[in-house]
Amino acid sequence: MSSILYTSRKYVPKAAQILLISVTWFCSARGHECAINEPPKLASYFGTKTRYEEVNPFLLTNPLLVTRKEDLLPNTCTPLQIVSVIRHGTRYPTEKQIKKLKKMYSLIKESTSNSELVKELQNWNLWYDDWMDGQLVKKGEEDMKNLAYRLASLFPSLFTSDKFHKCKMSFITSSKHRCVDSTKAFINGLAHTYLKLPPPTEDTLENVSCREPVVNDTLMRFFDHCEKFVAQVEENDTAMYEVDKFKEGPEMKRVLRKISNLLSIPERELNADLIQVAFFSCSFELAINNVVNAPWCRLFDEEDAKVLEYLNDLKQYWKRGYGFDINSRSSCNLFQHIFQHLDNAVSESKRSQQISTPVVMQFGHAETLLPLLALMGLFKDEKPLMADNFSTHMEQKFRSGRIVPYASNLVFVLYHCDLARSSEEEYQVQMLLNENLLPFPHSQESVCLFEDLRKQYSHLLNSCHVKDECQLTKVAHEEEL
Ligand SMILES: *[C@@H]1O[C@H](CO)[C@@H](O)[C@H](O)[C@H]1NC(C)=O
Ligand SMILES: *[C@@H]1O[C@H](CO)[C@@H](O)[C@H](O)[C@H]1NC(C)=O
Ligand SMILES: *[C@@H]1O[C@H](CO)[C@@H](O)[C@H](O)[C@H]1NC(C)=O
Repeated sequence: MSSILYTSRKYVPKAAQILLISVTWFCSARGHECAINEPPKLASYFGTKTRYEEVNPFLLTNPLLVTRKEDLLPNTCTPLQIVSVIRHGTRYPTEKQIKKLKKMYSLIKESTSNSELVKELQNWNLWYDDWMDGQLVKKGEEDMKNLAYRLASLFPSLFTSDKFHKCKMSFITSSKHRCVDSTKAFINGLAHTYLKLPPPTEDTLENVSCREPVVNDTLMRFFDHCEKFVAQVEENDTAMYEVDKFKEGPEMKRVLRKISNLLSIPERELNADLIQVAFFSCSFELAINNVVNAPWCRLFDEEDAKVLEYLNDLKQYWKRGYGFDINSRSSCNLFQHIFQHLDNAVSESKRSQQISTPVVMQFGHAETLLPLLALMGLFKDEKPLMADNFSTHMEQKFRSGRIVPYASNLVFVLYHCDLARSSEEEYQVQMLLNENLLPFPHSQESVCLFEDLRKQYSHLLNSCHVKDECQLTKVAHEEEL
C-alpha cells in the first residue's frame, strides 16, 4: 500500500485537500461569504469535543461523499465482515460542564467592564439546561445517519437489505442515552437513507428486534466495571498529577491572566477549569449550533487554543491512554470480542458457509475507543506526555481531536482474497479510523494477513484476562488485631 494517510503530523487525505482547494476557489470565484466552508481557526483544538468534520473537512460540503474506495483492497479481495467501534455523535454538555459554565457566566455577568466582548457575553443567551446532560443533539443524529450511509456505500456487499432483513447485522451499544440514540440514528440512516426502505408499518414490524440496539455495558463501558481502574485511576486524586500540574503551570497561567484582563474578572476568581469551560462553550456553539464565531471563541487565539488542547490531551492520556497500563488493559474483553467475530467469520468462510454476522456495529464513547487504540499500540509517543512538555505538543501523535472527535469510528475489515496461494494468505485485514486507512503499528502497512495479525496480538488474545487484570490486588499484609 502506497498511500499511508496517517503520519504523526499531517494526515489530511489527498482527496480532501483537493476538495478543499476547489471549495476555496469556488468561494472566491463567486465572491460570496464562504466562512461556513472554511474551518474556523480554533476548531481543530477542541480535543474530544472536536467536530468529525475537522478530520474529514470535505464533509462540510457534502456529508454523504464517499471518497476512499481506491485505498481499499482490489476486486480480487471480497470483504467478508466489518467489525466497528463507534463513538456517539455530537452531544450536549454534561450536567457537570453546564454547572461550571453557569459559574463562569455569572462571573462575567458581574464584570463591570465596558468592552464590546464582555457586553456580548453578558447578553449571550445561556441556553443550556440541566436536562440536556450529555444527550445526543440533532446534529449528532445526522452524524450517525451520514456515517451509516458512507460506511454502507464503502462496503455495499455487506450492507444489503437482505442481510438487514435477515438479522445478520449486530448493533451493540453502551447504555448511555447518547449511545442508544446514536445506534438508532445509525440504523435509521442505514435503513432509510442508504437502503431506501419504506418506514416500518404495522405489517412490517414483526421480527425487528434484531434491528434494535442491544445494550451491553460490560463491552462498551468496560472502564466502569474494572475495579482496579476505578480505584487506581478514576477515583485516585493523585493519578492526574500531570494534569493538575499543567493547570497550575506557566502556559495555563498566561491564558488565565489574559482572560482575566479581557473580562475584568480578578485572577483569583478564575481557575483552569473555568477557562476550559469557556473554551468548550466555543466548541459547543460550533458543533451544536453551527455558530462559527461565538463571543466565547473571541476570548481565545490559536496559541491559547493549543494550551487548552494540551490540557484536554493530557487528561485523556493519563485517564484513558498510555498513562497507566490498566487504562488499556481494561479493554481486553472488547479487543478479544472483536477477534472472536473475525475468527468466526474466517472459520465459516473456510467451511464455505455464509458469514453469520457480516456487520458488527458497537457504539460507545471516546473512553471506549482510546483504551482500545492504546491496547493495540496506536498513536503512541516515544515519551510520556508530561505537564512540562507543552512545547513538543504539536509533534505528538496522541492528539485526541485527531483520533476521537464526535462520531469517531474504528473499523476492522476482514477480506477473503483469491491469491491462489496457501490458504493462510486468503484472509486479510484492514483498519480504518474515521474512514481513513490506519496503518498497523507493527508494520506501518495498511493491510495485514489475518494470521499475522493474530500472531502480532497473541499476547493480548491469550494472556490478557480482564478478571485478573481488573482485580484489585489484596493488601499484602493485613493488619493483625
Ligand atoms: C455482553 O457481551 C459479552 C461478550 O459477548 C457477553 O459475554 C455478555 O453476556 C454480554 N452481556 C449482556 C448483558 O448481554
Ligand atoms: C494513585 O496514583 C498514584 C500515582 O500513580 C499511585 O502511586 C497510587 O498507588 C495510586 N493510589 C491507589 C489507591 O491506587
Ligand atoms: C517531556 O519532558 C520531560 C522532562 O522535561 C522529558 O524527560 C520527556 O522526554 C519529555 N517528553 C516528551 C514527549 O517530549
